[in-house]
Amino acid sequence: MAIVGFIGTGNMGGALARAAAKSGLAEELLLANRSPEKAQRLAKELGGRAVYNQEAAARADILFLGVKPQMLEDMLDGIRDTLKARKERQLIVSMIAGKDLQTLGRLLGEERPVIRIMPNIPAAVGAGVTLFCCSAAVTAEEKESFIRLMACSGMVTELDEHLLDAASGVTGCGPAFAAMFVEALADGAVACGLPRKQAVAFSAQMLLGSARLLLESGAHPGELKDRVCSPAGSTIQGVRVLEERAFRAAVTDAVIATFEKKF
Ligand SMILES: NC(=O)c1ccc[n+]([C@@H]2O[C@H](COP(=O)([O-])OP(=O)(O)OC[C@H]3O[C@@H](n4cnc5c(N)ncnc54)[C@H](OP(=O)(O)O)[C@@H]3O)[C@@H](O)[C@H]2O)c1
Repeated sequence: MAIVGFIGTGNMGGALARAAAKSGLAEELLLANRSPEKAQRLAKELGGRAVYNQEAAARADILFLGVKPQMLEDMLDGIRDTLKARKERQLIVSMIAGKDLQTLGRLLGEERPVIRIMPNIPAAVGAGVTLFCCSAAVTAEEKESFIRLMACSGMVTELDEHLLDAASGVTGCGPAFAAMFVEALADGAVACGLPRKQAVAFSAQMLLGSARLLLESGAHPGELKDRVCSPAGSTIQGVRVLEERAFRAAVTDAVIATFEKKF
């Protein structure tokens, strides 16, 4: 059991705080946010406590940083002395996109155990992907505690830091692309006469089911596509139209565009 703190309880910090609460491994959950109402609402929902940044920094054994990249240095200026004054060991977990371990080491001190994570928003429903890499100071026990704390967020996988940005085009940005796909599918169904609410529900469930089938069967995506396309059937006509409109090339380029954008 550990005291777990979050500084920045927005979309991503909030989702991971929910996972930490569900794990049952947080002896105490300390939630700090610039606009305190957000932390207060979340504390009420999760049975945690809304605190100021300084208290989270002083007391958390595992401290998550969930502010936007451009806010990081200002936020750290406000807690640097508190972090220095703490005598007990403290694991820092940064979800801040684009801030690599070297930068975090420079900002926080090289000797500090730091885990850099790249989570995604489906963590809010326990179906996220959280990729992580560790600074040299992180012990095997600390890594294990972190993995167990995040187990309720979905898949938690260690990855070489140099691959994090490549993967995050799919895991971090992908939910936006998936939502666009669901919206477009639903538009098609609405155009064919289905009410909007059902069109969205059926499209999202179809995506969820197809993803589960791929993960659980280990089948190649092309194999699943072929299984659905019967000769002279309707699905292959849809596939033909997607190929004509360069659907796959557009999706591939979207992922590369996210990778090429410098934070
Ligand atoms: N969203 C994603 O899918 C995703 C995926 C991977 C990584 N991330 C990373 O997660 C981090 C948070 O992103 P987000 O989407 O959750 O953004 P967000 O919803 O804007 O959350 C950021 C939170 O930080 C708070 N904050 C700002 N300055 C602060 C300070 N000095 N002290 C305490 N709290 C402060 C903000 O408070 P206010 O309520 O006052 O604005 C806000 O609630 C980013 O670094 C991002 O790179 C996000």
